Amino acid sequence: MRLVLLGLPGAGKGTQGELLSEELDVPHISTGAMFREAIKAGGPLGETARAYIERGELVPDDVSVEIVKERLSQPDCEQGFILDGFPRTVPQAVALDRTLPTLGMELDAAVNIEITEEEAVRRISERMICSQCGATYNRAIHTVSQTDRCLECGGLLIRRPDDTVETARNRLAIYMEQTHPVVHYYAERGMLLTVDGERPIEEVFAAILSQLKAWRFGRSSGEEAR
Ligand code: AP5
Ligand code: MG
Ligand code: ZN
Repeated sequence: MRLVLLGLPGAGKGTQGELLSEELDVPHISTGAMFREAIKAGGPLGETARAYIERGELVPDDVSVEIVKERLSQPDCEQGFILDGFPRTVPQAVALDRTLPTLGMELDAAVNIEITEEEAVRRISERMICSQCGATYNRAIHTVSQTDRCLECGGLLIRRPDDTVETARNRLAIYMEQTHPVVHYYAERGMLLTVDGERPIEEVFAAILSQLKAWRFGRSSGEEAR
């Protein structure tokens, strides 16, 4: 299965991407997480990305497209992938459409996880991440604090540097301006599935799986009819 996850910052793309990756046994590819890794490692990609991310702006399209192309050409993507945070602009969506056939691949669907801006701001303010492995927690549901350690690896939990109220507002505005058109891009191509993201994590996950199942069934019966 080859999927794209769309949704406001804080919608749960990372959370659902991890669950889907386990369920479907395909890699979860988050461009945001790749940039955070690059920043931690130092080096030119990290340096370029840091300035944009800290302001809540998008990293230039050519940089993001290049890292995704490189990642998708690795052998673990042959059976599928979950893309989280890419494409984020219409030019990125067009670039993905051009790249996939060169790898002998085709996208199955784009899943839009819908939440309100109010909920996005709340979740961003409640998020804690592991400074070592990047695992994500929510202070409201996981009862962790800044002094706690990661349940996966024991790393120190921190706030994401771009999770300040001001940067988050900027990320939300940029989403509406540059990423929301991507939702229409997939809708126009009949590839968009939408789920209500303002429910407990397990319920959102179940809703995505059932939509995917119905979607696959619809497509295969459509093919038989032809
Ligand atoms: P990225 O890391 O992708 O950030 P984002 O899009 O702003 O999304 P988030 O990671 O903030 O939210 P999420 O939807 O993953 O939610 P999560 O599951 O963590 O990108 C960061 C930056 O990198 C960008 O601003 C940009 O600068 C750059 N970048 C990345 N990709 C790029 C690209 N393609 N082009 C250009 N620039 C790019 O959940 C949020 C919180 O809510 C967590 O605490 C979680 O535990 C909790 N939660 C999740 N689901 C639920 C639920 N159902 N109920 C209650 N709480 C929940
Ligand atoms: Mg994320
Ligand atoms: Zn950890």
